[in-house]
Amino acid sequence: MKRLLRVLGWTLGVLVVAWLGTCAYLSASHPRVEFTAAELARPAVPLPKGFLWGTATSSHQFEGGNTNDWTRFEAQPGAIERGETSAVSADHWNRMAEDVALMKAIHANAYRFSIEWSRLEPQEGTWNEEAFSRYGDLVRQLREAGITPAVTLLHFTLPLWMADRGGVCAPDFPNRFARFATEAGRRFGADVQLWITLNEPNVQMYLGYVLGDWPPQKKSPAEAVRAFVGLLRGHAAAAKALRAACPGARIGVANNVMLLEPRSRLMLSDWLGAAFVDQFWNWAFADAVRDGRARLRLPGATLDEPVDGLPGSVDFFGLNYYFRYFVRMAPWTPETFVLTPGPGLRSELGGTSPVGDSPPEALFLLMRKAWTGYHLPIYITEGGIADDKGTTRGPLIRGQVEAIRRARAEGIPVEGYFHWTLVDNFEWEKGYRPRFGLYRLDRETLARTPAGGADVFAALAPPR
Ligand code: FCB
Repeated sequence: MKRLLRVLGWTLGVLVVAWLGTCAYLSASHPRVEFTAAELARPAVPLPKGFLWGTATSSHQFEGGNTNDWTRFEAQPGAIERGETSAVSADHWNRMAEDVALMKAIHANAYRFSIEWSRLEPQEGTWNEEAFSRYGDLVRQLREAGITPAVTLLHFTLPLWMADRGGVCAPDFPNRFARFATEAGRRFGADVQLWITLNEPNVQMYLGYVLGDWPPQKKSPAEAVRAFVGLLRGHAAAAKALRAACPGARIGVANNVMLLEPRSRLMLSDWLGAAFVDQFWNWAFADAVRDGRARLRLPGATLDEPVDGLPGSVDFFGLNYYFRYFVRMAPWTPETFVLTPGPGLRSELGGTSPVGDSPPEALFLLMRKAWTGYHLPIYITEGGIADDKGTTRGPLIRGQVEAIRRARAEGIPVEGYFHWTLVDNFEWEKGYRPRFGLYRLDRETLARTPAGGADVFAALAPPR
């Protein structure tokens, strides 16, 4: 009996030491980074010449007047908060010159925007020349203002005819999307060198096919993995089309990445949970692009297959950053992984999706991870905060610039930053309540006035 107790005691001791040792090792290899108050309060030192410093928008959120799968979704009662729709939004479609002047006024030298597939190809195979020339005018005005355009081909919204054929899961989605990329590349390639094929494929797949909250409102792991592969094939086909249509194009994907850390650094299960969600959410798409192999694990569906045309299809890593979360592994809950926001600048969005919990330290760590994983130049393709009072946007921009400075000082090639967004606009299912704009939108008159943080943005602009 005594011997048994001794053996048990030793076994327990060894297990505890192994457990604590592993946690200590994991903690040491994932050091916390803190920016000091002094670092964050630094007087504005502009970014270096040549750094792209701009804002980001998307066609459906900004233009008004689109007809696509989202407008159909918006017509469903209860789909959008307060029953709002994108019908008018900020009316950018009719105010492009005014909006380019706004960019100039805050010293931006770059602008990321999406061209709306449903406008440009309203019926399959029919190209809307008037819409192409409107975007062509925008590109010309940007160039004249010394603003480098970066064009996104797909920022969530699909033409109705594409949605009705099965959207990104349709077998012919890659070809149809590549045909659109060819038309865009052929027309704008002389003036546009920076291209983003897809915005946040993980978000599109997860909200559209796992949660079923966004179009096409599916809740099916089998369809989710099909959407994931469809988006990968679509990206590969569009990248190939762009390379043929505009030699010299620099191509990337805008990846939504968040910093995911264990809720407790003493719980091995939390380390495992954080690692699982990190791989699933942050890197599965980019790893597939790098390796030419799609791998994804969802409860109820597993994917592991080769996809043609992926390696070499991107020239930079596009990083959209809004969140840092702590992860608790809790298999007894319906979610399995419970995510809670950490301390940081909190947006007013609240609810289940507090967009804007964005400590700059997390952005810094994410740039490090992206550089270690892919060795590609990095553009921060989005970063921003919903801030009605205009008090948190300035500190957020300062902090993000500090993160960029630190990364560059470590030799990480961060080449641009696009603040989300220029003017308040239609924030998907949340409607107009979240105000992300450097300019505040008066929804009655559509007038734009500088919001809190616009002065900070202007002061940090690189010298011309
Ligand atoms: C990003 C989306 C963008 C906007 C911001 C707030 O995830 O890409 O369209 O909604 O969030």
